[in-house]
Amino acid sequence: MEQIIDLRSDTVTKPTPGMRKAMMDAEVGDDVFGEDPTVNALQEKVAKLLKKKAALFLCSGTMANQLAIRAHTQHGDEVIIESEAHTFNYEGGGGSALSGVQFHPLRGNRGVLDPSQIEDAIRPHDHHFAPTRLVCLENTHNRGGGRVYPIEKIGETHHLAKRYGLAMHLDGARLLNASIASGIPPETYARYFDSVSICLSKGLGAPIGSVMAGSHEFIDRVHRFRKMFGGGMRQVGIIAAAGTYALDHHTDRLALDHANAKNLAQGLSGIKGIRIDPNTVETNIIIFDVSEACTDPRRIVEFLKERGVLMIPFGKTLIRAMTHLDVTSQDIERAIEVTTDVFSSLKRRPRQMT
Ligand SMILES: Cc1ncc(COP(=O)(O)O)c(C=O)c1O
Repeated sequence: MEQIIDLRSDTVTKPTPGMRKAMMDAEVGDDVFGEDPTVNALQEKVAKLLKKKAALFLCSGTMANQLAIRAHTQHGDEVIIESEAHTFNYEGGGGSALSGVQFHPLRGNRGVLDPSQIEDAIRPHDHHFAPTRLVCLENTHNRGGGRVYPIEKIGETHHLAKRYGLAMHLDGARLLNASIASGIPPETYARYFDSVSICLSKGLGAPIGSVMAGSHEFIDRVHRFRKMFGGGMRQVGIIAAAGTYALDHHTDRLALDHANAKNLAQGLSGIKGIRIDPNTVETNIIIFDVSEACTDPRRIVEFLKERGVLMIPFGKTLIRAMTHLDVTSQDIERAIEVTTDVFSSLKRRPRQMT
């Protein structure tokens, strides 16, 4: 049996030997007392990377987004967000359950909102309405196919937000992918936001962890809510070390993941039954349409799995693949071969579209 090529997500990576050694060697202390030197060093590193005053190590990207909402808002406030955003769709209803906010989702173009849409959505000062308090953007945008959020749109949104007294949070789970793809430094993106979170456990390849950055006052507030949400951890230098290692060793190589993704998209675009424009693939996420194959994406994914290639169904007609640290250019070639075979065999299989 050939090795499995796991393209389901960039979260499936295993720590490398170098990363495991860094974890073994980490100096640790009780982080609830603020005494873990490895955690403190990671927080300082991310604050510096994003040119913010302070940063805090957190369990996950979800925790980061939810803490940002909790710290920026009060119960009954409204949060403007793109309708396909992770924070709105995949965080278990956390915004309403944990912070008592109401989301105002706006349909974007592959994850990107026009500032005029945001302006139209801001509530007037009238006690009938939930006060608009926060704008959340996502860069890169997961359901937008890894799209890099255009910096001009971010700048315009920032000016708008300031004009209306709104806070801005960036779900930067894959901000470093955006930065590597666009050549725009992370701090330039971060400048426009009051809070920015990055994930260490996605393309960067650490086993766990996110870091949120912002002003001293904001991070102090997040620190209190992190405790309240049960996210205060103890000798976590052992995992923070993996995050530091990931930032030092796995940032520049994201360009390889992007090149692999582009190659995969190009290969897939030549397969009958698949629709994808490779020009839309800017980073490590490939979302392709299989409606012309007249077969449920879940079945297609099962057929691919039988041949050792893992992808995930992404709605009624879409499949998503992601490249990462544990995927080579040879794996991409094989994934294209296998997908080609599977699609040509669909003709011989009984049709089913559910
Ligand atoms: C854009 C985005 N934000 C946030 C998250 C949540 O991260 P976590 O799985 O660490 O909670 C994800 C997870 O895939 C994501 O894609």
